[in-house]
Amino acid sequence: MNTTDLIGKSIPRIDGPLKVTGEAKYSSDFQFPGMLFAVSVPATIANGEVSSIDTKLAKSLPGVREIFTSENMDKLYRSDGNHEARAPLEDQQISYWGQYVALAVADSIEAATAAAHAVQVTYKPSSVDVRNLNKAEIPNTGNGRGDPSTAFENSAVKLDEIYRTPTETHNPMELHATVAVYDAGTGYTVYETTQGVGGARGALSRQLGESGDRVRVITRFLGSGFGGKINTWPHAALTCMAAKVLGKPVQTVVTRKQEFECVGHRSATIQRVRIGASSDGKLQALLHDYASASAMDSGNGENCGEATWSFYGVPNLQVSGSVVHRNIGSPTAMRGPGAVPGVYATESAMDEMAIKLGLDPIQFRILNEPAVDPSNNQPFSSRHYLECLAIGAEKIGWHKRNPKPGTLHDGEELIGYGVGGGSWFAGRGGANVNVELHDDGTANVLCGTQDIGTGTYTIFAQIVSEKLGIPIHKIRVTIGDSNLPGGPMSGGSMVTATIIPATLDGVKQAITMLLSKATAMQGSPFSSEFNDSLKYENGMVTGGKKSIPFAEILKGMKMKSIVGEGHSGGNFGGGYSMHSYVAHFAVVGWTPSIARLRVKRVVSAIDGGRIINVKTGRNQILGAVIMGVGMALFEGTHYEKNYGAPINSNYADYLVPTHADAPKIDVHFLDHPDIHVNELGARGIGEIGLAGVAPAIGNAVYNATGKRVRSLPIRIEDLILP
Ligand code: MOS
Repeated sequence: MNTTDLIGKSIPRIDGPLKVTGEAKYSSDFQFPGMLFAVSVPATIANGEVSSIDTKLAKSLPGVREIFTSENMDKLYRSDGNHEARAPLEDQQISYWGQYVALAVADSIEAATAAAHAVQVTYKPSSVDVRNLNKAEIPNTGNGRGDPSTAFENSAVKLDEIYRTPTETHNPMELHATVAVYDAGTGYTVYETTQGVGGARGALSRQLGESGDRVRVITRFLGSGFGGKINTWPHAALTCMAAKVLGKPVQTVVTRKQEFECVGHRSATIQRVRIGASSDGKLQALLHDYASASAMDSGNGENCGEATWSFYGVPNLQVSGSVVHRNIGSPTAMRGPGAVPGVYATESAMDEMAIKLGLDPIQFRILNEPAVDPSNNQPFSSRHYLECLAIGAEKIGWHKRNPKPGTLHDGEELIGYGVGGGSWFAGRGGANVNVELHDDGTANVLCGTQDIGTGTYTIFAQIVSEKLGIPIHKIRVTIGDSNLPGGPMSGGSMVTATIIPATLDGVKQAITMLLSKATAMQGSPFSSEFNDSLKYENGMVTGGKKSIPFAEILKGMKMKSIVGEGHSGGNFGGGYSMHSYVAHFAVVGWTPSIARLRVKRVVSAIDGGRIINVKTGRNQILGAVIMGVGMALFEGTHYEKNYGAPINSNYADYLVPTHADAPKIDVHFLDHPDIHVNELGARGIGEIGLAGVAPAIGNAVYNATGKRVRSLPIRIEDLILP
């Protein structure tokens, strides 16, 4: 590919060949001579105390190096940036099933697994609380605007319903893993499955009691994370500790079963939504009150009101949230944290309300589109939600929908149409990006961020290729290392928006430096010219009638490379309300005779500013929509009520959509650059791909069947039983 007109195009991943050939190194692919393997011993109670740990048998097994318990391990400290408040193996208290009580380290994964099983632990159990959330736990005093209670009471048409979402487990294909190498001189090198090498470096250094410069975190490739890999989990610090004490590299790979126990999940929620409207469909009041389940010593939960504040033009609003505590592991961020379960409730309620009002659900939304952000009266930086609705409606064929449920047939199959909207705040953090020009005509871009799988490698290469006029195959991208100039964590749909200004600045700095060299170089054809009359264009420095490739200037200067250090600050609004928007449309089919429910089609109309790479962007939305099918119809982690163990803790029993469950998906990107966010107008799209899918499906199920299911996942039992 020789064109350098790449921004906004469908560009194949530059790391694609590495991935499909198996060359790409994920954390657990880093292997070292003499490396040991660690396997943790999980608690088999969910509440109580460890009374004794007998490691004699385990230690006697062949190949076993050490069994670490709170008695014989090196001290680990508490730290922010690790989702468990307590340090790993801090004391004998157990508050969830699967909490680590010991760590077995051996020469092979098999020996370590056998040793972990041979550790004999006795417990003093206490009674376990993993109850489902109940209505009494929903709060009713929160923040908001206007006088929501009075406005609701006085509304001509009212809706008051409860919606529930279950515990969901992230389940990225790549298991959480840590490979730690310790050197007494330089400290730790940690190959970690993290969405933020900088954050992980900080959290691990604090837990290990080391200064930050003695911990280096490397994440070259990540098999996704969905939020579950934003912060570090207990195995990471334990693995580092073991590597130091034993003087050998140590690897831990969390098992699939443990993914359900001790590395986070999306909290279950219970949400009460009250909507009051005038009889002509103008919203008067919206009250969104919710509780989510957290661990005993955690405050993490789902901030379900994330999108509620600004989405509709409603003068009277209440948002109240609380977390309640259960004997479960710590929850954490999962794609669209808060907003995704939140808009499930509010967008389902909007559908129910439209029906009460006798309005088309799209019309109802149009009637309540705000002119400015009603939460702060700020103008929107760029909001085209109504266009999302219009385009989505056209592409799905909304005119074919029959508002009367259970009336549209395709043979025996009942067909239903549904819509659900979503938003996610947009902005950007600060970042540092170095852009190097080399004397062989190549460029290298370096940043301490990482590619979660969304295409960050490619985005960097596209921008630098276009701005420097160097073909993309001559651009190297170096990311995934905490020693690099600090960059964003891969979360909150913010990497692309964040790296753009710093990358553009890096390019600018590199060019400025190059131009200054162009006149300084001995025998320079430009020496008689002034610096500011020189131009950099398409890889060449041009002045007067002469053009020289940048590589020649470096050679003339006897320099291997020059580096432009790019920096940018954050921007989280600055007087504008910044969000990405989406309208998802779903068509479902219900065949009563065989109790088959299918999502047949999804259309997603995305207002995400300028899309830098349409191919990787579309890829993100496809994955998110399938995740939404899982949320709507399949997913849910179940805790056994007496023991507190997640009982469907594997890919067979925790249902996710298979290929056969995937609908036909049509992704449409609106093209309205949001220049308030950054120079290229790019906003994030990771979270809005999911926000709104589940309610669109639920609303379509109602339209097909006449059954309103207010608790996810929607099961066929819900549709069959009276
Ligand atoms: Mo996302 S839940 O911010 O990784």
